[in-house]
Parts: sequence; C-alpha cells; structure tokens
Amino acid sequence: MTNFKGFIVRNYDSKVEGQVEKLSTDDLSAGNVLIKVEYSSLNYKDMLAFQKNGGVIRNYPLIPGIDLAGIVISSEDANFKEGEWILGAGYGLGVSHSGGLAEIARVPGEWLTKVPENMTTREAMIYGTAGLTAGLSIKALLEAGMKPEDHVLVTGSTGGVGSIATKILAKLGYENLAALVRKPGQAKIAQSLGATEVIDASSIRSGKPLQHQTFDYVLDTVGGDVAAALLSMVKI
Ligand SMILES: NC(=O)c1ccc[n+]([C@@H]2O[C@H](COP(=O)([O-])OP(=O)(O)OC[C@H]3O[C@@H](n4cnc5c(N)ncnc54)[C@H](OP(=O)(O)O)[C@@H]3O)[C@@H](O)[C@H]2O)c1
Repeated sequence: MTNFKGFIVRNYDSKVEGQVEKLSTDDLSAGNVLIKVEYSSLNYKDMLAFQKNGGVIRNYPLIPGIDLAGIVISSEDANFKEGEWILGAGYGLGVSHSGGLAEIARVPGEWLTKVPENMTTREAMIYGTAGLTAGLSIKALLEAGMKPEDHVLVTGSTGGVGSIATKILAKLGYENLAALVRKPGQAKIAQSLGATEVIDASSIRSGKPLQHQTFDYVLDTVGGDVAAALLSMVKI
C-alpha cells in the first residue's frame, strides 16, 4: 500500500466538500495500471463534480479529475511499461472512477494512451480534454473529406473546444476559416487564433429549413438553435 496526497470529494447531508488529504491506494478505484500523475487539466465538468447535485459524481467519496497525464509506476497491461508517459481522458475518470487530482491514479489500461513522442505530459494536459475533443472533431471531419481549401466554420470559437479547434485548423493550413462569435472582443481573439473571417452569431437566423448554402463543414461547439440554423447553411 502506497501513501500519497490527493484531492477527494466527500458527500455530507447538506453539502459536498473536497480537500487535499493523505490517501492510500485503497482509496483508488480498480484498474491494471498504476500511474504517478504529473498533470491534470481543470474542466467545467470538474467544477460540477465539486457541487452538490452537480450530476457528475454519483458515488462518494471520489477523487475528481476527468483527465490525467503521468508516468507508469506498474502495469499489468501488456501495452504499457513502467516509466512510460501516458495520458487518459474521459471514460469514468473523475466521474465513476477515481480521477486525476491525486499524486497517484489507478486506471484500466484500455482508457490510456501513450503521450506522443514530441509532447510532454504538461503539454498534453494544457490541451486537456477540451483539446482532445477538438482534435477528435477535426479527425472526424477529415475522415468525412474536409480539405484545407474548404470553407469551414467553427462555432464557439473562443471557447475551450472551439479555440483549440480554430488554432489546429489554422495550423493545418485552412485559410477560408470562419469563426462564429457573439460578444465584443471575441472577434479579435478568434482572428489571433487563425480565423480569417468572423461572423456574429446574431446574423445566424434559425427556423428556416433552407438558407444560402455557405459552409463546406461546420465544427459546432454550441448546439441548440445555432446548430439547427447552421445545418441549413451547409453545402450538400
Ligand atoms: N471542454 C471539454 O473538455 C469538452 C469535452 C467534450 C464535450 N464538450 C462539449 O463541447 C461544448 C463546448 O464546450 P466548451 O468547453 O468549449 O465550452 P465553453 O468554453 O463554454 O465555450 C463555449 C463557446 O460557445 C459560445 N456560445 C455559447 N452559446 C452561444 C450562442 N448561443 N451563440 C453563439 N456562441 C455561443 C460561448 O461564448 P461566450 O464566451 O460568449 O459564452 C463560448 O465561446 C459543450 O457542449 C461541452 O459539453 C466539451
């Protein structure tokens, strides 16, 4: 049994409270890879996890943290060796399974992946779950046929997922890259991320089944009426 420090959330009758405590491997959920955690990003979902009826954690006590990156201490999974840099995001991490906000984590190997060779654990968690989501969204669009010459719109382009998606697309050479924003000041931010065109959300009208077909692809992080309106603006 190893002792370490970690942030643990406990449920009391009237409130949920979290604090850094001295913990042991007995406090960790089951898994076949033991990890020395170096970094975890802080996500909106983590904020919900710290709240009574936040809807994220259902069984207390639990170590939150929906992602983590660190070094393998020991592994019963043949894909991972002691000393390797790994990262994990999503699945049950910090929700139904002890997460990344502790010095040590224990996780099923199938939830983990190796940190790419040109990246550190710190960089992996700077991108965090939002970055992974942006990357997976772009991967899906590329697999659907998206090309750098296409007219692509990113909604919520200054938010967590949208900002990284905009930056990745700019880096991939997308020069017809539109950003949907809704507040003063966001246009400049979107342009600094690589957007070549900024569209104010108030100009997008919902309720019309057919509108001018404007975009080849839309990476939507907003949903609701915005997504509904944009559906009829995608070229088919
Ligand atoms: N972050 C993650 O790790 C993650 C992972 C998986 C899925 N998701 C999902 O991805 C979506 C975006 O998450 P996020 O973390 O990027 O959120 P976020 O940081 O709050 O960003 C949302 C962006 O959308 C904009 N926005 C919201 N409502 C809008 C509207 N009606 N019209 C125009 N713009 C609007 C916001 O603008 P303002 O700044 O003006 O509010 C903000 O720029 C959510 O549905 C989330 O559940 C997120």
